Amino acid sequence: MQFPGTLASCITGQELLAPHTWFGLGGPARWLARPASLEHLLELTRTCRDRGIDTYRLGLGANLLVSDDGVDGMVIRLNTRAFTAVEWPPEEGPDGDEVRVVAGGGADMNRLAREAVRRGLAGLEVLAGIPGSLGGIIRMNAGGRFGQIADIVRDVTVVDEDCQLRTLTPDQVGFGYRHTDLGNAIVCRATLGLRRTDPVALRKQFLELWNYKKNSQPMGDSSAGCVFKNPPGRSAGELIDRCGLKGRTVGGAYVSAQHANFICAKDGASAGDVLALIGQVRREVAQRTGVELELELEVWGHQWARPVGAAC
Ligand code: EPU
Repeated sequence: MQFPGTLASCITGQELLAPHTWFGLGGPARWLARPASLEHLLELTRTCRDRGIDTYRLGLGANLLVSDDGVDGMVIRLNTRAFTAVEWPPEEGPDGDEVRVVAGGGADMNRLAREAVRRGLAGLEVLAGIPGSLGGIIRMNAGGRFGQIADIVRDVTVVDEDCQLRTLTPDQVGFGYRHTDLGNAIVCRATLGLRRTDPVALRKQFLELWNYKKNSQPMGDSSAGCVFKNPPGRSAGELIDRCGLKGRTVGGAYVSAQHANFICAKDGASAGDVLALIGQVRREVAQRTGVELELELEVWGHQWARPVGAAC
C-alpha cells in the first residue's frame, strides 16, 4: 500500500517489534510510523481511518506483550522531538508552590522523574522505577503503592477517536485504578502539577522508593512489570505466591521467584510461552482462590488483545 509522500518518509514496513519492548519478544508490525510533527500525526490517523487500518500506540514497550505473529496494522511511535520535549518552569521559586510542567506523550517517565527530583519538584517521585512513556503511563494510570500519575495530571491533549486534537480535563480522562477512558485516543502531551520542595529531602525519598522496588522486584530480568491488576483489597502477587506458582515455567517463560506478579523471559522464550504461562496462572489462581485475575499487561495480536477499532 502506498502512503502520501509526507507520510511515506516516517513509515517503515514489516518492522520487528521485539526490540521495541521490554520483554524483547513479538513479531513484526505491518507498518511502524514515527510522525515528526503534530500535523503528521493528524494526517496519519486520518489516513488510517479512511483506509480502515487498525492503529496501535507504542510507548517504550514497558507494559506490552506482542504476539509472535505481530500485528496487522499501523503501530504509531511518538519518539521524535515533537513528542518528547519537556517545558520546565523557572528553577527558582518559593517552596510549596505548585508549578506546571508540560511534557510530550513520548517523554521517558524515568528521565522526567529524575529531572523533576533534581529540580526539587515533587510529585513524580512516587513513580520511581516505573518505566514507560508519559502517554503510556497516563493511558493506564500507572502507579504503585505510593501513588499514581492521576494525582498530578492537570490536563491531557490527545488526538481522539475522530482524529481531532482535544485537551481533556482529568475528569474527562476518566482515571480509575490502572484505567482511563482514553480508549484509542493518542496522548500527545500533558500538563503536570508539581510542588516545589527541598531537592535534598526529595532525592532521599526518591532513592528509598527505588530501593523498595529494586529489593522486591526482578528488575534485571526481561519482563513487562506486573502482569495482573491487584484485585480490590488484595495483592495479585501475594495470591499467585500463595498458590505456589513462583518458579513455574512454560518454555522460556517463568514466574519470578522474587515477585510472583512478574513473568520473565529467558533467551529463546517466545511470546507464546508467556501467554501460555499467563493462562496457567490465571486458571490455577481462579480454581484455588475463586479470584479471576485481570490483565494489567497490554497484549497485541492475540485473542486477549483489547479491541483496537479501525479509527485512530
Ligand atoms: N507479595 C507476596 N509475594 C509476592 C509478591 C508480593 O507475598 O510474590 C506481597 C508483599 O509482601 C506485599 C504485597 O504482596 O505485602 C504487595 O506487594 P508489593 O508491595 O510488591 O506491591 P504490588 O501491589 O505487588 C504495586 C504495583 C507495582 C509497583 C509496586 C510498588 C500493581 C499491580 N503493582 O505492586 O507496579 O511497582 O506496587 O510501588 O499495582 C507495575 O505496575 O507494573 C508494577 C510493577
